Amino acid sequence: MAARVFVTRIVPRPGIDRLRECADVDVNESDIPLTTDELRAKAGRYDALVTLLTDQIDASVLAAGRGRLRIVANIAVGYDNIDIDAASAAGIVVSNTPGVLTDTTADFAWTLLMGIARRTHEAQSFLRAGKYDGWGIMMMLGGDIHGATLGLVGFGRIGRAMAKRALGFDMRVLYYDPVAQAEDEARLLGAHRADLNTLLRESDFVSLHTPLCQETHHLIGKEQLEAMKPTAYLVNTARGPIVDEAALAQGLHDREIAGAALDVFENEPEVHPGLLELDNVLLTPHIASATVATRTKMATIAADNVIAVLEGREPLTCINADMLAHLRPPGPYVLAPIPCPDKR
Ligand code: GLV
Repeated sequence: MAARVFVTRIVPRPGIDRLRECADVDVNESDIPLTTDELRAKAGRYDALVTLLTDQIDASVLAAGRGRLRIVANIAVGYDNIDIDAASAAGIVVSNTPGVLTDTTADFAWTLLMGIARRTHEAQSFLRAGKYDGWGIMMMLGGDIHGATLGLVGFGRIGRAMAKRALGFDMRVLYYDPVAQAEDEARLLGAHRADLNTLLRESDFVSLHTPLCQETHHLIGKEQLEAMKPTAYLVNTARGPIVDEAALAQGLHDREIAGAALDVFENEPEVHPGLLELDNVLLTPHIASATVATRTKMATIAADNVIAVLEGREPLTCINADMLAHLRPPGPYVLAPIPCPDKR
């Protein structure tokens, strides 16, 4: 019997092909996210699950996998959709795909930052609606990016990639991060550590780059929006619930801040109706890492993680490191020999 792997949605082909070199792979070709009941059923019947951020891998799913399921390989850097403690309790490794999406995500956060500041979404709608009937000196005035202050909430890989890009715009960069110890890199990037309040008060652009956890849920709410300059912009490419969306919709409506550019939402795929009505908001459907090359790399890293765990080896990017001491030897399934990486 070959090892069995279930992929919860359609993902880039090279990831599937890699898995098929050594295991029986089933893919949810409907591409419709599975319900918790469906995920529970899969967890009990497969040796590995390849999941996406649309899959809620809660304690009940993980308990259903106890004994057989060895790994949940999430194709995302974020893993707030998985109950990590429950995974460890059930003896299941969880992995993510950090690193490969850093630059792509930072590129996109900059796309949003520039778009909202220079009102590209409004300008395009205006033109397409046939409203452009002649150049005007007062038309579509936005905010300057060069020379402005950029506040980075979170100074991990993506936050630092943001700071690197800000160098080219002669920006002053502040960062807030209670965890990341990146003083040397911050110095090289000319970024200065600040407390959250100072960052919010002094920044022209506030860009969020923290994971979603208890401490960051609604990190940006009414009080924080009120602390920001009325000319400032908020950019969120991290996770929706880091921002209190209702407070943001109200704040934008009341012009407490100048605008917001959001790629992520509190209850995806729903968007707060208040945000949809406003012009000073640029909205995109969670696509910050969506390039062909990056999504392909994410899928192949997840596949490599699955193969490693099925072979009893450490995955490249394990989240619950406590599980590494308990990796199970392969079996009872049979794995086809894995081709050397350089022959792939
Ligand atoms: C995308 O949001 C990710 O976490 O990779």
